[in-house]
Amino acid sequence: MKTTVVGLGYVGLVTAACLAKFGHRVIGIEADARKLADLAEGRLPFTEPGLDDLVAASVAESRLDFGGPEQFAQAAADADITILAVGTHDGNGGWQTETIRKALAAVVPHIRAGRALVIRSTLPPEFIGELPSIVAGLRGDAPAISVLLNPEFTQEGRALNDFFHPTRVICGVVEDLDGSGTELLRELYRDTDAPFVVMPAIDASFAKLGSNLFLATKISFANELASLCDAYGARIDTVVDAMALDPRIGRAFLGAGVGFGGSCLPHQVTMTVKTAQMAGLPTPLLAAVDDVNHAQRAHAVGRLEQLLPGGLSGARVALLGLTFKPDTDDLRDAPALTIARLLLERGASVTAFDPMLPARARAAEMVPGLELAESLEQALRGADAAMLVTEWSEFLQVDWRAVRGLMKRAIVVDGRNVLDDTALVEAGYVYTAFGRGFELAEPMSLDGARHGAAAAGEA
Ligand code: UDX
Repeated sequence: MKTTVVGLGYVGLVTAACLAKFGHRVIGIEADARKLADLAEGRLPFTEPGLDDLVAASVAESRLDFGGPEQFAQAAADADITILAVGTHDGNGGWQTETIRKALAAVVPHIRAGRALVIRSTLPPEFIGELPSIVAGLRGDAPAISVLLNPEFTQEGRALNDFFHPTRVICGVVEDLDGSGTELLRELYRDTDAPFVVMPAIDASFAKLGSNLFLATKISFANELASLCDAYGARIDTVVDAMALDPRIGRAFLGAGVGFGGSCLPHQVTMTVKTAQMAGLPTPLLAAVDDVNHAQRAHAVGRLEQLLPGGLSGARVALLGLTFKPDTDDLRDAPALTIARLLLERGASVTAFDPMLPARARAAEMVPGLELAESLEQALRGADAAMLVTEWSEFLQVDWRAVRGLMKRAIVVDGRNVLDDTALVEAGYVYTAFGRGFELAEPMSLDGARHGAAAAGEA
């Protein structure tokens, strides 16, 4: 099928390359001239495992081409399906619909009769109701087209796998001409065996939103449970593993730690709460999800402060990981950035290491005062404590006994509950995580009192 993808950001480029791999003939349109020039030379605007090879192969086999805004009209006129994948974040935690309105204006008048417009961007729910009249206004006297939503559920770092093996393909109907739009979309995904679910557009929008809100809720739930585990001396890993044997619960997204970041989960929780509040609709559960998530970042800093004999002022902290999760270069709403700012505000010096070089460079610009190390060893040298914030696989391989001599004090805060705490303690470290016994030495008694304080490991 001939497919045009408008917007070659994260979602658009992954969609374009994967559809080309399915054998469709894809043209990707991007308004940013620099991004386009980079793509023409084989450089991708972000890092995603396997995507560079996939793009290169599809371009070489002439199944994928790129073009600028001057090709909007032709590309839309040629396509069986025109997919919009432009951004809807305002870059400040809110929504913006200006870009998608412009993209609609550029393509809708040119789409051939009976063909389909598919919106893959995540839209604010209130915008869905406007779509029929926007499209009708732009079509004027031209024959009708099908308009569908096709929300994505792509996780960064495993986007290709998520695209090729989706758990479901959702088709939200704004306008479906005698079912022909739905059939076109079904044909686009013919190579997946995922359930193809057709529903009204507003339901599709909420299917996407609801998924992300639920995942965020699971994480904040795990974090609150971890605090209880700490207070009572239980171990969250064991607790959650046992809970997960109940198929109604499952193990995914119950990882406690410094909380969720990225472009989707934090934005959608915050915006849902904010928009509902403006509409007079209370969402106390989701507001708490947001609060718990933000508090985790401060907890990590507070815990470290408690473990350092002289507090944070003047201490040197090695921050391990900057990106919001491993296998991406994405720093959007990354917990590491908030944590670095909090540490610096409290007088610590912070040396960060992240295996992703472009992320290191950008983090230095985003957090004034943050020092960057070229290696894990360099970050640890002379540090009073190490705090792991992103669970990159190379951090999981560290021989902590071997690096002990580099550090001034042997203190490790494991912000993702991923290190071998027994091995660290045996190697002489003071170790803390989330729900792995931070206050294990002084569990909460029946009268709620706590006793004693954790001792810091002086070198
Ligand atoms: C998310 C959704 O998973 C995806 O379906 C949607 O399309 C886009 O948003 P992504 O932002 O790539 O994907 O990241 P995800 O893997 O969901 O992780 C989000 C954040 O939650 C990360 O910071 C991660 O570290 C954190 N997380 C995840 C936890 O803190 N605990 C967990 O158990 C799982």
